[in-house]
Amino acid sequence: MNKAKKEIINLLKKETRLKDISLEVPKDPEHGDYAFPCFQLSKNMKKNPVEIAKELSKTLKPKKLIKEIKEAGPYINFYIDKQELAKSTIKNILSKKENYGRSKPKKEKIMVEFVSPNTNKSLHLGHVRNGILGESVSNIIEFSGSKVIRTCLNNDKGTGMTEAMLGYELFHKGETPSSQKLKPDHFVAQCYVDFKNEEKDNPDLKEKVQQTVKRWEEKDKKTRELWKKLTGWVYKGYKQTYKEMGFEFDKRYFESKIYKKGKDIVKKGLKKGIFVKEEKAVKAKLEKYNLPDKVLIKSDGTSLYMTQDLYLAKLKYEDFKIDKSIYVVASEQDNHFMQLFKILELLKLKTAKENIHLSYGLVNLPQGRMKSREGNIVDADDLIKEMKKLAKKEIKKRHKDISKKEIEKRAKNIAMGAIKFYMLKFDNVTSFTYDPEESLSFEGETGPYVQYAHARISSILKKYNKKIPKKINYSLLNTDDDKKLIFLLSKFPEEVENAAESYKPHLLARYLLDLSQAFNEFYHECPILQSDEDTKTARLNLILSVQQVLKNGLNLLGIEAPEAM
Ligand code: ARG
Repeated sequence: MNKAKKEIINLLKKETRLKDISLEVPKDPEHGDYAFPCFQLSKNMKKNPVEIAKELSKTLKPKKLIKEIKEAGPYINFYIDKQELAKSTIKNILSKKENYGRSKPKKEKIMVEFVSPNTNKSLHLGHVRNGILGESVSNIIEFSGSKVIRTCLNNDKGTGMTEAMLGYELFHKGETPSSQKLKPDHFVAQCYVDFKNEEKDNPDLKEKVQQTVKRWEEKDKKTRELWKKLTGWVYKGYKQTYKEMGFEFDKRYFESKIYKKGKDIVKKGLKKGIFVKEEKAVKAKLEKYNLPDKVLIKSDGTSLYMTQDLYLAKLKYEDFKIDKSIYVVASEQDNHFMQLFKILELLKLKTAKENIHLSYGLVNLPQGRMKSREGNIVDADDLIKEMKKLAKKEIKKRHKDISKKEIEKRAKNIAMGAIKFYMLKFDNVTSFTYDPEESLSFEGETGPYVQYAHARISSILKKYNKKIPKKINYSLLNTDDDKKLIFLLSKFPEEVENAAESYKPHLLARYLLDLSQAFNEFYHECPILQSDEDTKTARLNLILSVQQVLKNGLNLLGIEAPEAM
C-alpha cells in the first residue's frame, strides 16, 4: 500500500477502532485524494453519517503526509501533502530500485500450474494466453511476498498421443523432425493430423487406437519405445517455445506417471461409499451440489482426465506442502474444476487449503490469419515469427543505421512486449480478438507504448549524460503533471498488491498505461533538460523514478523494458 494511504488508515483505525477501513478515491480532486465514507461507522454508533463525519473530522489531526482533513457531508476527505509525498516516494523508489513495490516475504506457498498441454499437438494461441497469464500471476504473487512454485502438467498418454503414434507408423515411419525440416513438436502434431484425416475414411482405425492404448498400458516394449521417441520430440519443441516466451517451470508433472494412482484413490472412495458403481462405471454423484455427476473410472476399467487430477492434487501437496494451488486453465473447463474441487472435498484428501481455478476466455485472431495445420487454431510459433517480422519492419522504418544484431534484439523485445501486453490488458475472464498490428502500435493501449515511455526516458538520461545530483528541491515539483505522476508512482506497491490478491495482472497492465500516459503528458508540458539547474535536477529524479517503476511493472508482466526501440 502507498505510504499516504497507510497513514490515513492508521489514523482512522486509532480513532474509530474499526478493524477494516476502506477508503475511496474521489473523482474530483477538489474533494481530496482519499475519502472515508462514514457509513461504515453509522451502524455501530447509531448515528447518521453526516454527524459522525462532523465529529470525527474534529478529532482527526493532520500529520506527516496528511496535510488537511475536511468533512464533506457523510464523508471525510483527506488531502495529501504533495511535497512530502514527492519526497518520500522518490526517495523510496531510488533507494529500493528493482525492489520498489516488493512486499516482505510471507510464509504462504503457492503453486501455479500453467500451459499444461496435450502432447500430441504443438502449442497454440490459447497456450500463449495461458502461459502469459500463468507466468505473470506467478511473478506478481512472488513479488508480493509468497513463495511460488511454477509447474506444468503434460497430458502425455491416452487417445490423442496414441493417434499421433499411429500417424507416425502409417505415414512417417523412419522419418525424423530434422529429415523433414520441422520443429520437433510440429512434426509430431503433423503425425496426429495425418492420422485424424485418415481416420475419416477409415473408421476401423478407431479399434486400432484402443488396442494400442491397451498395449501402452501393458507396457509393451515397442509401443513404449515409439511413445518415448515421439514425446521426446514434443518436449524438445516445447522447450524452444517456452524459452522464446520466457516460461519457466520448477517442476513438471506427467499424466503417464500418475494416472494409475488416481484409479486407486477412486477405488478407495468407492469402498468408503463416497462414489457409486453404475453399469460397471464408478461415478461421483454431484447433483445435490448443483453439478453434473462425474464418471471416474469407465465401464471398461480405464481412467479419465479427472482420475489423474485427483492424485495430482494430492501429489502437489505432498511434494511442496503448498497452501494454495492455482490452475490456469481455459474457461471450457470451468465445470471440470468445480467437480474436481468438490470431489477432493468429499474425499477429504490432504491437498492445498485452497484450490483455485484461474479461468480465462477465448482468444481469436482476425478472420483468415495464420491458420495452422489443424485449420482454425493459430500456432504459437507462427504467431511469434509473424510478430517478430512485423516488429522488424517497424524498426527498420524508424532507424536506417543500426546493426542486424541490434535489430534482432529489439524486434524480439517489441514483439514479445506486444503479444504479452495485449493478452494481459484484458481481464482474464473476457474473450477478445488479438489484432497483431494493433498490438504493435507505439500508440494506444499497447506494450510498445509502455516500453516506449521507458525507452524515451533512457534517451533523455543518455542525452544528459552526467551523474544526476541527488539533492532535490521537492517544492519545484509543483505542476499538476508532476503531482499526477508522483501520485501514480506512490500507488505502485498498492497496485501490485491488488493484482496479487485478485490474481488479475490486467490491473497492473492498466496501471502501466496510466503511468505511461501521465509521463507523456508531463513530457509535453514540462521541459527537462532546458530548465534551470534546480528544476532540471528535480525533474530528472522524477523521470528516473518513473523509469524504474515502468521497468518493475513490465518485468512483472514478463516484458522487457528496453533502453531503445
Ligand atoms: N492438458 C489439458 C488440456 O489441454 C489441460 C490440463 C490442465 N490441468 C489439469 N490439472 N487438469 O485441456
